[in-house]
Amino acid sequence: MSDPALVPRHPWKGRRVVLGVTGGVAAYKVVQLARDLTLVGADVDVVMSAGAQRFVAPLSFEAVTGRPVHTRLFSVDGAALHVRLGLDADAVCVAPATADFLARATQGRADDLLTTTLLATRAPVLICPAMNDRMFAHPQVRANLAHLRDALGYQVAGPGQGRLAAGEVGEGPGRLLEPWQLLEHVGRLLGTQAVFAQRTVLVTAGPTREAIDPVRFVGNRSSGRMGYALAQAAWRRGARVVLVSGPSSLTPPEGVETVHVETAIEMRGAVEEVLPDADVSVFAAAVADYRPLSSRDHKVKRERQGSSLSVELTANPDIASETRPSRRPGSVTVGFALETEDLLENAARKLTSKGFDLLVANDALEAGSGFEVRTNRVTILACDRAPEELPLQSKEGVAERVLDRIAELLEAGR
Ligand code: CTP
Repeated sequence: MSDPALVPRHPWKGRRVVLGVTGGVAAYKVVQLARDLTLVGADVDVVMSAGAQRFVAPLSFEAVTGRPVHTRLFSVDGAALHVRLGLDADAVCVAPATADFLARATQGRADDLLTTTLLATRAPVLICPAMNDRMFAHPQVRANLAHLRDALGYQVAGPGQGRLAAGEVGEGPGRLLEPWQLLEHVGRLLGTQAVFAQRTVLVTAGPTREAIDPVRFVGNRSSGRMGYALAQAAWRRGARVVLVSGPSSLTPPEGVETVHVETAIEMRGAVEEVLPDADVSVFAAAVADYRPLSSRDHKVKRERQGSSLSVELTANPDIASETRPSRRPGSVTVGFALETEDLLENAARKLTSKGFDLLVANDALEAGSGFEVRTNRVTILACDRAPEELPLQSKEGVAERVLDRIAELLEAGR
């Protein structure tokens, strides 16, 4: 789950989000969304339907956004409030969107503040449905949603599957996405960049595990955090993102197609499949360079093994180098290098020998950098430019800068 305090403020910062809340029990989750959006720098104007106010008091939203909540179409101070809200908005998000709201929005009704604001705005709109799973499966609800998406161009997030209002687990989708997921969807609405739209970005992340026996493995300390942050940020910029991840305890990024692998050989296979379609490939995984020559079928027993154990290792494939022939001509390729000595020399060598356009280097021994921490201090190398040293910052912040550099290369057509 992303921690809003770690997410760099882009793309929410200083943007105006109209958050429409309609009458479903999931409205309580949207208080958290309003808070998260505010924390990452957005100005959130909450518009509540009459039904929503029966579930959550406007005061809750006022308290977390620090702004007045709008509930009435006709109010003394705002004769054309809907027009102003609609015009000022950078994005409109409706969560939860009930079946009744979907029907009324489909008809273009204008009998409350939220529906009129929708008609008045030209900002991108995100609809986040939530209802009982049987209601969501109804053909009329599906038809309304299809109309909003296909005819009006609204984005739709969710619903997900899982526990519903009364605690029963739904057989189909119906549950509102979690606040952190909704935050990411609003981020994509606000953050899509033309240069990333219609592009496929491949990211490798995490460690690999190479089996010694059925319970033991050779691995490393990589958490996957850097690669996951890159995948999430690339998706937020509008790309289709495929994340090939070794074992990691992190929640897969929202919207990203995540392929889970365990070994370097499996990772190479997954990369080979995606690479021909990738406009950008980022090799952030800490691949184990060696694997046991053979993995035993049964657990090594201390009693039988005695006082020492030797495990012979053999080299793993170098995924970034071996898959070079499958790279799409003109695509942008980014590597990472974690060093403990001669950082810049080693990094410069990897930049050219592995055919990367950019190489992100960091010193594993420096405090606040490398594995198992949430921050990183990196230097970005490119062939035609002096190394760019970045200050110590969150891995999410590093990801944004790396994506800025990738965007420059894509824009230049490489
Ligand atoms: N890499 C890879 N496959 C490997 C090893 C590394 O694809 N078997 C990729 C990494 O994802 C990274 C880059 O190559 O983008 C450099 O990784 P690194 O481990 O620093 O380099 P190595 O070539 O393994 O060199 P060394 O470990 O000797 O420093």
